[in-house]
Amino acid sequence: MSEQELKLTEAQIAVHWQEEQKFSPPKSFVAQANMTDPSIFDRFSLDNFPECFKEYADLLDWYQYWHTTLDTSDAPSWKWFSGGKINVSYNCVDRHLERHRNKAAIIWVPEPEDEPHVVLTYQELYARVNETAAMLRDFCGLETGDRVTVHMPMVPELPITMLACARLGLIHSVVFGGFSGKACGERIADSGSRVLITMDGYYRNGKMLDNRLKADEAVKTAKEEGQDVDKVLVWRRIRDQYISETKMIKNRDYFVDELLADYKGKRVDPVQMDAEAPLFLMYTSGTTGKPKGCQHSSGGYLAYAAGTSKYVQDIRPEDVYWCMADIGWITGHSYIVYGPLALAATSVMYEGVPGFPDSGRAWRIAEQLNVNIFHTAPTTIRMLRKAGPEEPEKYNFKFKHMTTVGEPIEPEVWRWYYNAVGKGEAVIVDTWWQTETGGFLCSTMPALHDMKPGSTGPAVPGIHPIIYDEDGEPVEAGGTAGNICIQNPWPGAFQTIWGDRDRFVHTYYEKYNKDPKSKDWRDWPYFTGDAAVLAKDGYYRILGRVDDVINVAGHRLGTKELESACLLVEEIAEAAVVPVIDEIKGRKPDVYVSLKPGKKASKKIGDAVVKSIETSIGKIARPKDVWIVPDMPKTRSGKIMRRVLASISNGRDVGDVTTLANPDIVEEIRKMVQGE
Ligand code: WTA
Repeated sequence: MSEQELKLTEAQIAVHWQEEQKFSPPKSFVAQANMTDPSIFDRFSLDNFPECFKEYADLLDWYQYWHTTLDTSDAPSWKWFSGGKINVSYNCVDRHLERHRNKAAIIWVPEPEDEPHVVLTYQELYARVNETAAMLRDFCGLETGDRVTVHMPMVPELPITMLACARLGLIHSVVFGGFSGKACGERIADSGSRVLITMDGYYRNGKMLDNRLKADEAVKTAKEEGQDVDKVLVWRRIRDQYISETKMIKNRDYFVDELLADYKGKRVDPVQMDAEAPLFLMYTSGTTGKPKGCQHSSGGYLAYAAGTSKYVQDIRPEDVYWCMADIGWITGHSYIVYGPLALAATSVMYEGVPGFPDSGRAWRIAEQLNVNIFHTAPTTIRMLRKAGPEEPEKYNFKFKHMTTVGEPIEPEVWRWYYNAVGKGEAVIVDTWWQTETGGFLCSTMPALHDMKPGSTGPAVPGIHPIIYDEDGEPVEAGGTAGNICIQNPWPGAFQTIWGDRDRFVHTYYEKYNKDPKSKDWRDWPYFTGDAAVLAKDGYYRILGRVDDVINVAGHRLGTKELESACLLVEEIAEAAVVPVIDEIKGRKPDVYVSLKPGKKASKKIGDAVVKSIETSIGKIARPKDVWIVPDMPKTRSGKIMRRVLASISNGRDVGDVTTLANPDIVEEIRKMVQGE
């Protein structure tokens, strides 16, 4: 059995949906769309590559134009717009003041329904970004190129902090609020941040959660890994109150509102950054236990986020755009903060969970704010559909455009989204992309293509995918599933893995590269790690990951990270984590553990495993079940057969297991999980 067959990946448990009927974009949408000219695909053809991307870069204001559109000298770390000078904060804020000073940049909706919304105009955003930047520079002593870790919930202070960093050329690393203190600390250490910015607490599902609590654990973990944090800046969720149970530590912890008192009215000139200077790091899971810090650029990234926001998201300044994702993930970076603000949009942010206090909440927000572009993930759509399929009808909102992102959407769920939420009048884009890619790779162009439920669609302008089989042969349209790769670089792509160029090349470029010394981009197809099929009509269907990553509710979790958390429990000898299909979350991790000799299985051990996962990663990684098994199914060479375990978890036939070292154990585990 080959190594490939040994693995059970998300892609192998993909459901096989039938070909779906297409839907045309509503005429009302087409009539007003930003992109109605099909020749955009000629303009962005490989013949016009890379110069075509000037069209996106020209959406921005540059201090100095670039001399080289694509510099390949450090292949495959591509440099875009080399020689160009730009500032991201200037592009997202300052340049809009002349025409849009009094326009809402951010409308923030707190979770408690009786708490008033906070509206930040571009002028107010400008003032607050400047004051915050002054504090980071003058109080913290941070300089261009320094890294800053940010562990904050969905509050306006988060984009303010990011834009303040961008103003100074500081590299922000935003860690999703749901991650544990330990996970945050590991990211602090990897990025080498000496400043952590956090908030005392936030509302989630009707409760005030203590977020400051995690900072102590984060600083401790970072120290253990050799990184000192000398300042922890704490924003306060409620004015003049401190809602955390933990004590502020003298000479380390500071309330941001108190510090800012000294910077009232301060203005900071945006630093003129090289186009390829890093803007941020975003950590994501991979095949090994250590998360990867994906490093994104300033000029290329912003050009790509702005271009795709304009043409795929169809955002214009007069729209009210709501992306119900978390800024702690790439979707929030590109499509709540940077893309929309670069276009002078009004971006809505919501603090809490979509179903609080009831499943009508999202629709009430849409109605009240007159949201006309709505963006969310299949897991949320499934959840809202389950909890209140009739709810959207009760509210008077009208979307022109809706997005789904992060995982495949079942055609049936797609149709509910289209009919019940879109009321048959909104176009839907199913956008496929990754933390690494900075922006969309595949999606229909909303006014140019028909929609096909369950398929992401063709590639977006300037992206040229190719499906390769294991031997590097391209798979034609209408053929079998294979590894989807991108033939060409694009400006939104990450530049490297922070501090680990070898891992970057190995993970994303080695597989189909023919000459490691080549400086020609044609020799370096980007390996996405997803399996896909290409239908005859040119639409891609993404099947899921081919590596050891599980996509839980649209969040990427590495099975190795989960397994190492299990092994921290004293009694555990071996651990294997596999994906199991879940009605709402798409996938959940199912955990199998075996015990050290002489240890007895007990509920206590199972609970300890769950606890360890929560502490190491966070509650988002909670397993569906923890199965304590007498032994793992293994090959004769001692490899754990995860494929067999995954078949058992998903109620499927385990196939031929006679070649295993211990075939009897399979039946024993099957009975335990599936019953007799
Ligand atoms: C999956 C999220 C199907 C895919 C933006 C990818 C999708 C991983 C889609 C990246 C989609 C994302 N249809 N699958 N529309 N979008 N994926 O880094 O497996 O959190 O590789 O970025 O999510 O997840 P990430």
